[in-house]
Amino acid sequence: NKKITIAIDGFSSTGKSTLAKQLANHFGYVFVDTGAMYRAVTFFAMQKGYVNATFFDKQALINSLSNIKLQFKFNTDLGFAEMYLNDVNVETEIRTIEVSSFVSKVAEVSEVRSKLVEQQKEMGKDKAIVMDGRDIGTVVFPDAELKIFMTASASTRAKRRYDELVQKGDSITYEKVLKNVEERDYIDTHREDSPLIMADDAIEIDNSHLNRKEQFELVLELVNEIT
Ligand code: C5P
Repeated sequence: NKKITIAIDGFSSTGKSTLAKQLANHFGYVFVDTGAMYRAVTFFAMQKGYVNATFFDKQALINSLSNIKLQFKFNTDLGFAEMYLNDVNVETEIRTIEVSSFVSKVAEVSEVRSKLVEQQKEMGKDKAIVMDGRDIGTVVFPDAELKIFMTASASTRAKRRYDELVQKGDSITYEKVLKNVEERDYIDTHREDSPLIMADDAIEIDNSHLNRKEQFELVLELVNEIT
């Protein structure tokens, strides 16, 4: 079978990572969640005091970009790779609502994007990769053999994210999660550098009414047509 690159883009909480993980496991491909990289940079900026609810020192972050080392390390127990920031596992820390509320601001910074995009291109140079994010089919791998664009209504996505956070023991309201989802949608689609947009040759999947199994089988068929 031919090895390909699979790019999965779309709005937040559309189930991109779940689908990407399933595909990677099925085909023995590498899975890369690029959102985790933007989240880790955001967590770094929070730790350094460069960003909080009322303040963002963009220049300080840009100046310290060379001090940020990002790595994915595969956890065999979990069956997926976890995010490491300067050799520390930050997989839990980067998934909080606080990081979610700052990450789109950090992801607007061109210097941040070019650093991460360069690393992402390097990870995909041998193909056999499933990468999910916002700009994978448009910027990171414009030549990907398969591009998927996932959508679902904001309320469906907020409900999903809310259930996830509650299950983790976060005390949060649905309204707050919905507001965060809508704010990120807005910033992600309106930023100047690499806005979230569907590539011309992407296949759109609206999964408001598809369960995990149905969407997985749909994409499996698409991959099999190509390889
Ligand atoms: O995918 P996830 O929701 O974890 O991504 C968090 C944020 O990181 C997004 O809302 C977006 O602002 C940013 N992001 C991005 N480009 C990517 C992946 C994520 O700008 N390729």
